[in-house]
Amino acid sequence: MNSSSIIEFKNVTKQYDNDPAVLDNVSFEIERGKFYTLLGPSGCGKTTILRLIAGFTEASSGDIFFNCERINDLPANKRQVNTVFQDYALFPHLNVFENVAFGLRIKKWKKSDIDEKVKEALHFVNLDGYETREIKEMSGGQRQRVAIARAIVNEPEVILLDEPLSALDLKLRTEMQYELRELQRNLGITFIFVTHDQEEALAMSDEIFVLNKGKIEQSGSPTDIYDEPINRFVADFIGESNIVKGTMVKDYVVQFTGKQFECVDQGLNENEPVEIVIRPEDLEITTLENGKLQVEVDSQLFRGVHYELSCYDDDGNEWLVHSTKKASVGEKIGLYFDPEAIHVMRLGETEEEFDRRLEAYKEGDE
Ligand SMILES: Nc1ncnc2c1ncn2[C@@H]1O[C@H](COP(=O)(O)OP(=O)(O)OP(=O)(O)O)[C@@H](O)[C@H]1O
Ligand SMILES: [Mg+2]
Repeated sequence: MNSSSIIEFKNVTKQYDNDPAVLDNVSFEIERGKFYTLLGPSGCGKTTILRLIAGFTEASSGDIFFNCERINDLPANKRQVNTVFQDYALFPHLNVFENVAFGLRIKKWKKSDIDEKVKEALHFVNLDGYETREIKEMSGGQRQRVAIARAIVNEPEVILLDEPLSALDLKLRTEMQYELRELQRNLGITFIFVTHDQEEALAMSDEIFVLNKGKIEQSGSPTDIYDEPINRFVADFIGESNIVKGTMVKDYVVQFTGKQFECVDQGLNENEPVEIVIRPEDLEITTLENGKLQVEVDSQLFRGVHYELSCYDDDGNEWLVHSTKKASVGEKIGLYFDPEAIHVMRLGETEEEFDRRLEAYKEGDE
């Protein structure tokens, strides 16, 4: 275990009865003081990972370490972890102060120390003066802050947040994203945040784990994952993508839609079947002659900052384009893109193989 790691999962599997594994041989390390996000569709195992870290459920096999110590058998109340639940799980019959003070009272802290700590925690989440308010008199966003104050007052080493923003409207949600990120930086505590919203994950995280069916498909920084998705699932889940089948003709040449294009990838086999991703914002509208692809505009929506066009090529592939230029429905246009806009994905590549290839590619660039 790396010395900057605070949590490590080693080959952790979680299975209920004879059902398929909910987590399937998952390994990862969490470094101290960073903001991590578990991202994936409903049922992929995000909450299960949090419950294993918090000690609310046991692994069927594998090892879980906290500060280099194996904690599989450590009871939940002995772990240096606090959880903020999706529904906040506040005590409705207690006021704001007592909700936050609850854990410290159980630990039998002195009254004056409790007063000081609770005030400090409420100040951190911008709720000065709300001490005597009843929970039912608080808005969704304020309740959310009480739940966070209740978690930080215990000064845990890690805070687990299970979709804490999903009950809020879009504007408040965006505000809270900033606040949470700020709070994490100020406190320096490790946050493990769960969401199925890819934009939220990209905006907030130092590191993202993309999960699918109980496995980690890819882990990395938001830009790594956005720019270099390992496979179709990740490319599709993170942001909008154009994904087509292709062939790696040779180094720096890839073929799709029946044509060959210059690209920046090398080190694959000649004529290896691959999949190609091009992001909608990397496609430029141009004249038919200047386009690398020729398409017909099927629909167009104005999205505020850009137009979103759905176009089709002669083979029936759909091409999504985000552009500040507009076109007309039914118009034939050209699409231009740089060689760097083509992301080549090998079929069935493991994360280790992928990382090695990416590393070699980055070195070649220097
Ligand atoms: N106690 C249980 N018994 C049996 N199966 C369970 C139990 N708890 C969870 N599961 C199953 O484990 C899988 C993963 O559940 P989990 O709650 O981790 O998903 P999630 O990624 O948090 O999903 P969501 O985004 O919907 O919250 C699901 O298929 C779920 O049905
Ligand atoms: Mg969940």
